[in-house]
Amino acid sequence: MSIFDRVAERSGGNAEKYALRQKLFGTEDVLPMWVADMDIETPLCVRDAVMKRAEHPVYGYEEMPRSAFEAQCSWMAHRHGVTLEPEDLLYSHSVVASISAAIAAFTAPGDEVVVQPPIYPPFVSTIRHSGRKVLSNPLRQDAEGIYRFDLEGLEKQITPKTKLLLLCSPHNPVGRVWERAELEALAALCLRHGIRVFADEIHSDLLFAGHRHTPFIALGEAVRAITLTAIGPGKSFNVAGLAISTVAMTDAAMRAEFKAVYDTIHFAQGTVFGHAGFEAAYREGEAWLEGLLVHLQGNIDKLSELLGRYEQIAFRPPEGTYLAWLDCRKMGFGSDKALREFFIGEARLGLSPGISFGREGSGFMRLNFAVPTPTMDAALARLEGALRAF
Ligand SMILES: Cc1ncc(COP(=O)(O)O)c(C=O)c1O
Repeated sequence: MSIFDRVAERSGGNAEKYALRQKLFGTEDVLPMWVADMDIETPLCVRDAVMKRAEHPVYGYEEMPRSAFEAQCSWMAHRHGVTLEPEDLLYSHSVVASISAAIAAFTAPGDEVVVQPPIYPPFVSTIRHSGRKVLSNPLRQDAEGIYRFDLEGLEKQITPKTKLLLLCSPHNPVGRVWERAELEALAALCLRHGIRVFADEIHSDLLFAGHRHTPFIALGEAVRAITLTAIGPGKSFNVAGLAISTVAMTDAAMRAEFKAVYDTIHFAQGTVFGHAGFEAAYREGEAWLEGLLVHLQGNIDKLSELLGRYEQIAFRPPEGTYLAWLDCRKMGFGSDKALREFFIGEARLGLSPGISFGREGSGFMRLNFAVPTPTMDAALARLEGALRAF
């Protein structure tokens, strides 16, 4: 049996995906396919490293070792073709916290921060919490239904107070892996208007069928000087619970400005287990990741095959991430509430409502397909049963 066929029991513990079922869906009787972690076992190399560290009898304060940063730099060079030095990287316990720190460091109250909805909700909430203005520049679907940046629309909305853009690359929830030319056009616009970019590239190892991730900092020296990049093993190796990522800045002055904010909130150290798991994932996890991508592609194919037979849901397979963005507008529900109730009550699936990613997500549902084979098959059977009766 493949490791991707094994079902690890997560209910009954503290796993957020399961523990919040009652609160979010009003019932325990849903297969939860919402929050972006995997129901797939974390790779053995990571678990071994954590267990080895656990054996040491002292769990005191610990520096993130240089060797861990080096492991991530090697990974970035090898998988994504970019050069980073350990000095460019700062530890972060959370990408969302890094976004908050970037907003505090590089904008003032009343300034505008750009988002491109539909978008991972904390992009918007961090801006609001910090008293900055959300400059919403929705993605546009082209004639083929492919989501694109709306750069003309952005150019029209920009003001002297527009200071930062939050880029999600690959994009959660729509699953785009932005092409180099698209990113270059966005970067040119940001350079022209003096807008810094926070590139959230946390999904960048999860790529399908010929799609290649272009790190924003791969676009040249000028772009590097305005970019903060969030990267980490959380999504790639299913270690969100180790609470560890990094934020990269190659411009020393920019890093110092960011660090000044960082230091006020004492963002200094990670956990003994986080450090061990992080380094092991990057050093030893590649073969596991390759296997995972094959498995995830299989889940996409099964979902495509099913939805190909039911025209009520339009589905374009994601280019990256393990999130499927289901266009349910043809189902004809009058409201997002009714759509959500169909998925909970009829399909017995706990998905993320598209509307939670902004009003551009109305009529959509996001399904996390990072599950082992038996769970995927059970989910598809539930979905098919509901669609057949619809
Ligand atoms: C695009 C994106 N950024 C950030 C996060 C969360 O990162 P963290 O848990 O490190 O704050 C997620 C989790 O779903 C995500 O999808």
